[in-house]
Amino acid sequence: MHSLPLFLDPSSVRCVVVGGGEVATRKLRTLLDAGVNCRVVARVLHHELAQLVEEHSLDCERRPFRADDLEHVNLVIAATDDKEANLEIHRLAIEAGVWINAVDDLDHSSAIFPSIINRDPVTVAISTAGHSPTLARRLRARVETILSSGLGRLALYMGERRSGVGKALSDPRSRRDFWDSVLDGPIPDLVEAGRIREADEVLEDSMRGIRGSSRRGLVSLVGAGPGDPDLLTLKALECLQRADVVYYDNLISDQVLDRIRRDAKRVYVGKRRGVEGTIQQVINEMLVHDALAGLRVVRLKGGDPLIFGRGGEELEALKSADIEFEVVPGITAASGSAAIAGVPLTHRDVAHSVRFITAQVSAMSSDIDWEALVGERQTLVVYMGLSELAVVTQKLFEHGMDELTPVAVVSRASYHDQKVVTGTLSNIVGRVESNDVSGPATIIVGRVVALSRSPSKDS
Ligand SMILES: C[S@@+](CC[C@H](N)C(=O)[O-])C[C@H]1O[C@@H](n2cnc3c(N)ncnc32)[C@H](O)[C@@H]1O
Repeated sequence: MHSLPLFLDPSSVRCVVVGGGEVATRKLRTLLDAGVNCRVVARVLHHELAQLVEEHSLDCERRPFRADDLEHVNLVIAATDDKEANLEIHRLAIEAGVWINAVDDLDHSSAIFPSIINRDPVTVAISTAGHSPTLARRLRARVETILSSGLGRLALYMGERRSGVGKALSDPRSRRDFWDSVLDGPIPDLVEAGRIREADEVLEDSMRGIRGSSRRGLVSLVGAGPGDPDLLTLKALECLQRADVVYYDNLISDQVLDRIRRDAKRVYVGKRRGVEGTIQQVINEMLVHDALAGLRVVRLKGGDPLIFGRGGEELEALKSADIEFEVVPGITAASGSAAIAGVPLTHRDVAHSVRFITAQVSAMSSDIDWEALVGERQTLVVYMGLSELAVVTQKLFEHGMDELTPVAVVSRASYHDQKVVTGTLSNIVGRVESNDVSGPATIIVGRVVALSRSPSKDS
């Protein structure tokens, strides 16, 4: 991390602002608005700064900076228009262990001012560690739009009722669930509208409801999409933020794992090359066990949980143990890969249907109806097919597919090193070999591939 965000109690900050110009005025105003104790040392005062000094009855000395100005302060703002003087303040501040913000000089600042969104007592601070104030400003504008103006009032309301709820609900998980349900219900709107008595009535009712019921676990079977966290659904994100425990496997990217609530337990249950994974039966039992213990369990699966993900077996186990569950769909690899390659999976002229198949060894047995797969005007999407590419293309050819049928292999769709290799049924194996393609990869077969939007990316 380039910066450590740390929220300080303003009454414990004692600051001296050195300089009397416009920039010093801006910084002083920010500090005073937050309730920081400030003094000013400046040879000349900008009229607005003089006004602030008067309004807040600040101690202000009209003279150059002296080393003893750093006594009894823990923050100094070096805002003179003399670079040498600012450097000297920096040297002395570091020596004295005082935080310094040197205006427009990152290299000589041990503390910088973030971009702030103020919904007191809620404060959102954004920093790019000084790399791009413009980016920070843009982010701030974006976040502003999603935070209601009554957020501060809601935070105060919840804060004031926290100890009462704490006494009534001693179990921390029940408490967390309770506050989550408060935020999902009518209370935020009532509080923001100033209808506090009604909000309190709803709060009391909900508390009675929770006390009267034992906590029931819930298993959410969540699709994580192909890898890019921006392709998670809002509902998936919400599940990750509320989970007590998350079971995941190796199709889940680190960036998606980063979206899990910090103190949720994470359990890896996948298979890695050469390493035996947790067997399905054991996973089913773990899900049931945690749900019976009243936990919010997330079973996180790559793509969509019900497409070649063994989600069906987990659902059966949950049903037979009478566990409450929900399924949160995700963007499956076929859609993710088609989007990356710019291939429409259906097209009114060339493909009226699309089939998803898996090329796992067990699926290569004779009960695959290859003839049905080579039909005209359809798109075939093959999952888990990279290592079986030669067999799949050979079988399709033997069952009558034209050797010139276009084929795309999309590897690591939505990752930064995603790759699209295109060719035909007869030459795709060679092209994939010479392009050093790694998994996971999805194969798309059919005339739609010729409509791919980015031939320049292909080989
Ligand atoms: C066990 S299946 C899981 C499929 C998943 N449930 C879905 O809906 O996408 C794994 C296969 O999904 C495909 N796959 C998963 N993530 C992918 C990605 N980012 N790019 C391309 N293919 C991917 C590959 O064919 C891989 O072998």
